[in-house]
Amino acid sequence: MSRVAVVTGGTRGIGRAICERLQADGFTVAANYAGNDAAADQLKADTGIPSFKFDVGDHEACLEGCAKVVEALGPIDVVVNNAGITRDGTLHKMSYDDWHEVMRINLGGCFNMAKACFPGMRERKWGRIVNIGSINGQAGQYGQVNYAAAKSGIHGFTKALAQEGAKFGVTVNAIAPGYIDTDMVAAVPEPVLEKIVAKIPVGRLGEAQEIARGVAFLCAENGGFVTGSTMSINGGQHMY
Ligand code: CAA
Repeated sequence: MSRVAVVTGGTRGIGRAICERLQADGFTVAANYAGNDAAADQLKADTGIPSFKFDVGDHEACLEGCAKVVEALGPIDVVVNNAGITRDGTLHKMSYDDWHEVMRINLGGCFNMAKACFPGMRERKWGRIVNIGSINGQAGQYGQVNYAAAKSGIHGFTKALAQEGAKFGVTVNAIAPGYIDTDMVAAVPEPVLEKIVAKIPVGRLGEAQEIARGVAFLCAENGGFVTGSTMSINGGQHMY
């Protein structure tokens, strides 16, 4: 029987590419999403991948949502914590709400999904958790104290949970994407983005599939010795 993978924020952008890649690798995939029903329907129509609507920043909703995935597809073996938002702005203009929402969803979502899925992985002695961090969690970014803090937190969360999962066959790793061609990056003002792309040695934005390849590597059946690591996929923009 194939292993079950849940990808948060899985119906669009990097998340969708991860869903498709894991499905191609033989996983039974469930996509979580929070708001865009049309994208969820499109994913289902194109790939057959079912989606489960819940807010990863809401602890109870995560527990309930993951229970529904288990009921529909079986025990969850793989979690890819990909869901994330930006609320960019310099600190002096950033509201508490902009800070809190980014922490609640981007970092809190990792905790909530792990609380829902890690105990079962531990009992079954196999699991893969992949957390999507960011180059901006490694290097910081002007106008992103909230996002950089949350993503940096994800990298610490990964290393701590990796230590707890190791003797139970549960690996926990992170990927730190650079600037990828998605709706999130498209929202960066054009002149700002031009300056950023000019600093990427590879000379272009990344593709969502280039992140999905990294996730597939970390989720492999024989990937048990890779844990607590961060894979940077950023076109050489930050060598860390
Ligand atoms: N370093 C130093 N100064 C900078 C700067 C930087 N990187 N970026 C902007 N500034 C300066 C500007 O030059 C300007 O200075 P002057 O007034 O002296 O000319 C000043 O800061 C104000 O800049 P803006 O006009 O851009 O200010 P704003 O308030 O309109 O916007 C902002 C600020 C929202 C942060 C905007 O600059 C922005 O959106 N920046 C992009 C942030 C970014 O990269 N977000 C990534 C989103 S994608 C993502 O997060 C995915 C991932 O994981 C990689």
